[in-house]
Amino acid sequence: MNLLDGKEVSTKIKEDIKRETAELTEKLGRKPHLVAILVGNDGGSETYVASKMRNCEQVGFDSTNLRYDVDITEEELLNKIKEINADESIDGLIVQLPLPKHIDPDKVTEAIDYRKDVDGFHPINLGRMQRNLPCFIPATPYGIMLMLEHYGIDTAGKKAVIVGRSNIVGSPMSILLARNSNPGNCTVTLTHSRTKDLKDEVLQGDIVVAAIGKKNFVTADMVKEGAIVIDVGINRESSTETKSGFKLYGDVDFENVSPKSSWITPVPGGVGLMTIIGLLKNTLEAAKGTVY
Ligand code: GUN
Repeated sequence: MNLLDGKEVSTKIKEDIKRETAELTEKLGRKPHLVAILVGNDGGSETYVASKMRNCEQVGFDSTNLRYDVDITEEELLNKIKEINADESIDGLIVQLPLPKHIDPDKVTEAIDYRKDVDGFHPINLGRMQRNLPCFIPATPYGIMLMLEHYGIDTAGKKAVIVGRSNIVGSPMSILLARNSNPGNCTVTLTHSRTKDLKDEVLQGDIVVAAIGKKNFVTADMVKEGAIVIDVGINRESSTETKSGFKLYGDVDFENVSPKSSWITPVPGGVGLMTIIGLLKNTLEAAKGTVY
């Protein structure tokens, strides 16, 4: 078993981003600037956004976290997005998901100028990604691809089984792994809650991507000997063992799956760190103007 070490890869790529940011800041006369909108006070979302902002500062970006009460109306939020779209000093805009029930996430996603959509959720970016055109790629799948690339893992011709069809991870991951690109060129199966005989499907995977959000969902009996296992899960449970009061669990039963795998990501220290890298790279590209 070899570890796909998010700490090692993210540290290296962050250094590259820092260097490029310094050069770009000199050229533009200002820093790249990311705005993150956070609605309400979901504990997980607060942690993720705080981490995104901290990482922006570490590589030399400006970052602004706009926070709104859980009862902000959809119209108010859409108006705020329009203002940011028009503000030329802002390169990237993300709206942290999930949103409260009274706000339609599709309306919000489509309201963001696709040229500032560094989450890569806008249908224009999604369509361009499918066509292998320049675009912003959703941060988590982007980070996973960078990780596979870093370790020189040859994915061509492999069977990839993705568990979970979310807009944020599973669906875009299926497109990226199927694309004619490197990494890519996989034969992809996208499984979900209505999939029959899930275990048999996952057992076919030379590559397994677990993105369902359920602790230890993928067990050793579901994984083929020698598989490459990517664990996207960040399941938080209260714990007295840690300083933060939380312990993180992946979607994969690491202890029992890792001995069967050829490569595997740990949780924490795997995909989570790479998601940040995907976001930083997209924001840098947005500031450079190389995508649009
Ligand atoms: N919620 C969980 N992951 C993400 C992400 O990558 N971007 C945003 N905006 N919200 C999320």
